[in-house]
Amino acid sequence: MECLYYFLGFLLLAARLPLDAAKRFHDVLGNERPSAYMREHNQLNGWSSDENDWNEKLYPVWKRGDMRWKNSWKGGRVQAVLTSDSPALVGSNITFVVNLVFPRCQKEDANGNIVYEKNCRNEAGLSADPYVYNWTAWSEDSDGENGTGQSHHNVFPDGKPFPHHPGWRRWNFVYVFHTLGQYFQKLGRCSVRVSVNTANVTLGPQLMEVTVYRRHGRAYVPIAQVKDVYVVTDQIPVFVTMSQKNDRNSSDETFLKDLPITFDVLIHDPSHFLNYSTINYKWSFGDNTGLFVSINHTVNHTYVLNGTFSLNLTVKAAAPGPCPPPPPPPPRPPKPTPSLGTWMKLETIILSKLSQGQKTKLHMFSLTGPAGDNPLELSEIPDENCQINRYGHFQATVTIVEGILEVNIIQTTDVLMLLPGPDSSLIDFVVTCQGSIPTEVCTIISDPTCEITQNAVCSPVDVDEMCLLTVRRAFNGSGTYCVNLTLGDDTSLALTSTLISVPDRDPASSLRMTNTALISVGCLAIFVTVISLLVYKKHKKYKPIENSPANVVRSKGLSGFLNRAKAVFFPGNQEKDPLLKNQEFKGVS
Ligand SMILES: *[C@@H]1O[C@H](CO)[C@@H](O)[C@H](O)[C@H]1NC(C)=O
Ligand SMILES: *[C@@H]1O[C@H](CO)[C@@H](O)[C@H](O)[C@H]1NC(C)=O
Ligand SMILES: *[C@@H]1O[C@H](CO)[C@@H](O)[C@H](O)[C@H]1NC(C)=O
Ligand SMILES: *[C@@H]1O[C@H](CO)[C@@H](O)[C@H](O)[C@H]1NC(C)=O
Ligand SMILES: *[C@@H]1O[C@H](CO)[C@@H](O)[C@H](O)[C@H]1NC(C)=O
Ligand SMILES: *[C@@H]1O[C@H](CO)[C@@H](O)[C@H](O)[C@H]1NC(C)=O
Ligand SMILES: *[C@@H]1O[C@H](CO)[C@@H](O)[C@H](O)[C@H]1NC(C)=O
Ligand SMILES: *[C@@H]1O[C@H](CO)[C@@H](O)[C@H](O)[C@H]1NC(C)=O
Ligand SMILES: *[C@@H]1O[C@H](CO)[C@@H](O)[C@H](O)[C@H]1NC(C)=O
Ligand SMILES: *[C@@H]1O[C@H](CO)[C@@H](O)[C@H](O)[C@H]1NC(C)=O
Ligand SMILES: *[C@@H]1O[C@H](CO)[C@@H](O)[C@H](O)[C@H]1NC(C)=O
Ligand SMILES: *[C@@H]1O[C@H](CO)[C@@H](O)[C@H](O)[C@H]1NC(C)=O
Repeated sequence: MECLYYFLGFLLLAARLPLDAAKRFHDVLGNERPSAYMREHNQLNGWSSDENDWNEKLYPVWKRGDMRWKNSWKGGRVQAVLTSDSPALVGSNITFVVNLVFPRCQKEDANGNIVYEKNCRNEAGLSADPYVYNWTAWSEDSDGENGTGQSHHNVFPDGKPFPHHPGWRRWNFVYVFHTLGQYFQKLGRCSVRVSVNTANVTLGPQLMEVTVYRRHGRAYVPIAQVKDVYVVTDQIPVFVTMSQKNDRNSSDETFLKDLPITFDVLIHDPSHFLNYSTINYKWSFGDNTGLFVSINHTVNHTYVLNGTFSLNLTVKAAAPGPCPPPPPPPPRPPKPTPSLGTWMKLETIILSKLSQGQKTKLHMFSLTGPAGDNPLELSEIPDENCQINRYGHFQATVTIVEGILEVNIIQTTDVLMLLPGPDSSLIDFVVTCQGSIPTEVCTIISDPTCEITQNAVCSPVDVDEMCLLTVRRAFNGSGTYCVNLTLGDDTSLALTSTLISVPDRDPASSLRMTNTALISVGCLAIFVTVISLLVYKKHKKYKPIENSPANVVRSKGLSGFLNRAKAVFFPGNQEKDPLLKNQEFKGVS
């Protein structure tokens, strides 16, 4: 009985053997089994069919969850991070980048070996051996066989020899990219980049999978697998940023009446496919101002009414494309025509792949379908160079409200105080504004370069239709200050900036100044006295200036005199100088 089991077991094994013996690329790479149609109609330049055989001896294949993964890397697991510059306009290049992230405290050194970072402490503490993997040792002993350096293990999974780029021996990772039923092998360090031309790629989302191996003596060990969705589209990917001076929140699509909104169109074209294309921008702002066609990617538009408007942009570019088929046209492959639903899904896929920061920028990016424009509007150019008109679309709904249009400081006044405190210079700013009525005022007092904030205060304001208000602020001492003053309400924020000079009123320094003055006066007195002595030899007695006990009062008087003198000789130092009002510079924001 036992014998029979063994026999059956042997039969089962034997039946499995031929399958295991001839592993093909598509058995190894990913779960998707691409159709022959996919391979044929999506030919990628320089890529090979995944029907090819995979050398499993040199490149072992482990299933997900295999125990051997645990020991595939010393000190933890390596993560492969795959990114792409998707979405790609069909015909342009799409670039994929894989970066390996090693366990804590490990890094690749200049020779391509993996070392422990100096002074970095992980769970195992500081390592005595500086190397995680010293591949230099391996590659030297194994390549000694032949002068050519071409040994049987310096090959890719399909048996092709490694290309001998300079320094290739220090490249210790093998990357196998797989998409659309084809693969691409690359030797590299901890980061590699692969560009693919999308001219033959079916439109829509596609999957890219990457498997990474590391050297292990004369064989290779799988260390990571990663996949990512990318999108090929016949719509020009368009991003639009909308900005406006005085707009409080640039991402809520609410803007202000009577101020220009700047629309800046960014075409996502990382491979510079459209470098030599003429690009047209056709705008409709939705406020019955008609169509506006421009070749400039930035345009300004001012809405003069409040309300809600839907704006439309169509971007058109003549791009290199397939030449029209010779007549009679052969039947086109059954390409799924993207319905609005598909595009919405696409957008969701793209959005889900982006980080939060990118998303805020991208929320205006639209992949909405062609809607009437024919993307296959062909025009022939001699020499087999054909061009095709590609379109990009953008739609948005903007809300226009009234806002604060302008703020001006019309006067700055020094507030006189009965008793000067230790750090008390008060200045009143008389401010006017245009547009809606502000609800708050903020000041930022900073150094004369307007960069280092010293004090920031906001307070609610209650002003009438006239919009005239006085803002009082304290300054810590004499000197030049930059004052940024903003008036705001729910939707707008208007800024003005001015430089002011606060006079010296600190009693301690007044005293210093008084003493200096006294010394000067003393010198003058001595000088006068000497002259007097010379001239009037009879007057023998010299009376020095009294240092009276009523020092404070006296110095105050003297200081007042000196300040007045200063006002005559150095008018620029007084905050009341009308010139200062002209120094105000408007915010860009
Ligand atoms: C597209 O496919 C054709 C064959 O179908 C091939 O000759 C051509 O090189 C491919 N183009 C690119 C960019 O891969
Ligand atoms: C790494 O290998 C090289 C080449 O064999 C050798 O010179 C070096 O000493 C090795 N380093 C360590 C730490 O083993
Ligand atoms: C070594 O070189 C000889 C000829 O120079 C060649 O026949 C042989 O295949 C090479 N061996 C290896 C392992 O590359
Ligand atoms: C596109 O990628 C191919 C490699 O697939 C490369 O040879 C070519 O230079 C790239 N073209 C541009 C414009 O980047
Ligand atoms: C700006 O508007 C966006 C969208 O409405 C909102 O999520 C965000 O919280 C707003 N930011 C501020 C500072 O109010
Ligand atoms: C396209 O233009 C950019 C700058 O505008 C330049 O950096 C890039 O090299 C150009 N690329 C090609 C393929 O012409
Ligand atoms: C904006 O474009 C869409 C589709 O492209 C169209 O249905 C709509 O009428 C356009 N709106 C305006 C105001 O042009
Ligand atoms: C677009 O307009 C801006 C502002 O008027 C100007 O500075 C820029 O040179 C223009 N660009 C082109 C390509 O005309
Ligand atoms: C748009 O207006 C801003 C000022 O609000 C100006 O700097 C810019 O040059 C204008 N751009 C165009 C294209 O007119
Ligand atoms: C437009 O502004 C007026 C005041 O000028 C206001 O009464 C009206 O409610 C506003 N309409 C909208 C849609 O905001
Ligand atoms: C004055 O100094 C105090 C303490 O150093 C600081 O809190 C305050 O913000 C300063 N005020 C100004 C207007 O610089
Ligand atoms: C004050 O406003 C100017 C623009 O007018 C700006 O460049 C500067 O950074 C602002 N300073 C502070 C401290 O916010």
